[in-house]
Amino acid sequence: MEQPGPGPGLGSAPSLPALIRKKRDGERLQDTEIRHLVQAVARGTLQEGQMGAMLMAIRLRGMDLEETLTLTREMAASGRVLEWPEDWQRLLVDKHSTGGVGDKVSLALAPALAACGCKVPMISGRGLGHTAGTLDKLEAVPGFSISQSPEQMRSLLEQVGCCIVGQSEELVPADKVLYSLRDVTATVDSLPLITASILSKKAAEKVSALVLDVKFGSAALYTSLERARPLAQSLVSVGSRLGICTVAVLTRMDGPLGQRVGHSLEVLEALQCLEGRGPADLRQLVTTLGGCLLWQCGQASSVGQGATRIAATLDDGSARGRFQAMLQAQGVEADLARALGTGTEEQRFQVLGRAGAQEELLAAQDGTVQQVEALPIARVLHELGAGRTQQGQPINHRVGAELLVAVGQRLVKGSPWIRIHYDTPELSDPQRHALQGALVLASSEPFAPSGKVAEILLPQGSRSLEELMGEQGLGSSRAQLSCT
Ligand code: URA
Repeated sequence: MEQPGPGPGLGSAPSLPALIRKKRDGERLQDTEIRHLVQAVARGTLQEGQMGAMLMAIRLRGMDLEETLTLTREMAASGRVLEWPEDWQRLLVDKHSTGGVGDKVSLALAPALAACGCKVPMISGRGLGHTAGTLDKLEAVPGFSISQSPEQMRSLLEQVGCCIVGQSEELVPADKVLYSLRDVTATVDSLPLITASILSKKAAEKVSALVLDVKFGSAALYTSLERARPLAQSLVSVGSRLGICTVAVLTRMDGPLGQRVGHSLEVLEALQCLEGRGPADLRQLVTTLGGCLLWQCGQASSVGQGATRIAATLDDGSARGRFQAMLQAQGVEADLARALGTGTEEQRFQVLGRAGAQEELLAAQDGTVQQVEALPIARVLHELGAGRTQQGQPINHRVGAELLVAVGQRLVKGSPWIRIHYDTPELSDPQRHALQGALVLASSEPFAPSGKVAEILLPQGSRSLEELMGEQGLGSSRAQLSCT
């Protein structure tokens, strides 16, 4: 494995307050200054106050594309960069999301890609803001270890084909520090910081192809498609400049993805998806994002064909088998991994644990479900212990919500529409009120809900999903996607 050195041209170190002042005043930072800053973060020589001030200066003043690229490279080089056997190169792929509510796609997609013969060295994240993280979800499984050395990751990829791990002192340590600090300094929604955070992990993974799920909507980091598009463009540009074949898929995040929100409940729903069941929107996203990746890395002649291959691994149990193998290889006892992989829902609950109390809320009037807003649900679950307000705080994995209705469904006053799982604190009246506000009913007739995928951004511009999936569309012309 490569151990990156300090790099050339550092010269005499600039003072950290001077760099903070420079960015605060809207100036651009030089490569050497960004390198100095990232090294100070990784070595722990930057005080927390200074880091918070710099994050806020970047959040308010932004960074141009070159600064963002340098920040990404330096963050990736703050730890070890993974190395893989030559013959894996085309197979190394990954997916990352900018964060949503109920987003358990990675749990199903990593093993599905492994079942297709890909190698997925996924370095993921914890919860940020109101969004929950893949690592926290996996830690709902007793014994699962997100701390894996580069050598262990290699053996996981040899044995299973995929692993899901966290940043560490060895892997992108600068992101580990900045990620958790952003969560508590109101600097999560910064375009250059998101770009560098996500892509530094992928650059350290040394993957060849990457698909990014860029969420927009009331429960996403950016609320509108227009505001999320620049983030998708920044991710695709910087990813391509790093030599990674990068595609961004812009997806709606107004309502939760799937019917379950909360760490343990989302593991259960991912398992349903892994056995060919579960909500249609989740399956559509897993197969679409996976289809893109198989197409990008040349394992499928079109996105549609790739999506069909991913769907087959969900339906024939091979993806679930990989998930079970990954759990076991990452520290879960064999009988628990087996109960989760092949057990009934009740046996799975026994492994993950169930919150002490459940309460169903009832519809206050008749109507057709127009939307279930994800943000109020995520905020209430956060207050009930599913999220952090301080760095490193423990969370309650069993807190969660199950939607009992779907968009477009007709509801009668008094019928249950959501079930909240909680321990203490108990649900308060203001929380019940906030949750009731999440149910948007209309008096009109049922209508067809729109799909989650809005737009797909390739290095050369945007395409619709239909164009990419269609029989002619981009069909077999992968050449249109310039991958270095
Ligand atoms: N995921 C990351 O890894 N970083 C972000 O900033 C947002 C989502």
